[in-house]
Amino acid sequence: MQSIDLNLGFSGRTVLADINVSLKRGSITALIGPTGSGKSTFLRTLNRMNDRVPGFTRTGEVLFDDVSLWGQNVDLLTLRRRIGMLFQRPNPFPMSIKDNVVSGVKAHRIAKGKQLDVVCERRLTEVGLWDAVKDRLNDSPFRLSGGQQQLLCLARALAVGPEVLLLDEPTSSLDPVTTEAIEALLKTLTPALTLIVVTHNLGQAMRVSHNTIFLYQGKLTEYGPTDELFNSPKHPDTERYVTGRMG
Ligand SMILES: Nc1ncnc2c1ncn2[C@@H]1O[C@H](COP(=O)(O)OP(=O)(O)OP(=O)(O)O)[C@@H](O)[C@H]1O
Ligand SMILES: [Mg+2]
Repeated sequence: MQSIDLNLGFSGRTVLADINVSLKRGSITALIGPTGSGKSTFLRTLNRMNDRVPGFTRTGEVLFDDVSLWGQNVDLLTLRRRIGMLFQRPNPFPMSIKDNVVSGVKAHRIAKGKQLDVVCERRLTEVGLWDAVKDRLNDSPFRLSGGQQQLLCLARALAVGPEVLLLDEPTSSLDPVTTEAIEALLKTLTPALTLIVVTHNLGQAMRVSHNTIFLYQGKLTEYGPTDELFNSPKHPDTERYVTGRMG
């Protein structure tokens, strides 16, 4: 995401204007701002999830390895393998735990046969879920706890070897222990991956991110190193938000 320059809206109403930012490869960027400020819209645009949403409008570009996300030769499946996404609510597929982990790997023909077992174990181990599920890999994921389901979705996202991972409030439905586990895990993913994490949890933004973007009233109000943005914000609106004095 070396260059982002976007205007986004729905049905003629601008949601975000003049979003100009470059994200450093291998870093974690937190995306913060009040509800409705356009965090999800921005994030979803980065792997073209809004393309088909009725009324969605976009002008501007995002360059990824010098190529526009909307470039003529960009294959959407490949793009989404390179730029993965994790949502607020865990969304396991209606298939076994193992098939969840390797579904993308199979679809993209990254591995097959016995190799799939290796991928499955490796990714479940990476997210700390292996011991809990190794005896029920063929079971439905829907009997797992919410936190375990989210870890499974993370394992699935990681299994295809993305370069960028977009996370939209990935821990907001989880208990503090799982939240801590996911935060610790996210930090281990860099610098191999570039992460962008939407969060309402300012403590989380401070704990995990290198840089923070503050979106407010349709604008990118402030972007900078996380400790500076939280401890010596340049903009009065940022200060009100990070000190909890905004509505
Ligand atoms: N599919 C859509 N159609 C029309 N308007 C939309 C659509 N999706 C989002 N919006 C509008 O765009 C604006 C930004 O929404 P968005 O979901 O990006 O905010 P957010 O910052 O993620 O909020 P939250 O913190 O509550 O998740 C809101 O005014 C919302 O109503
Ligand atoms: Mg949102």
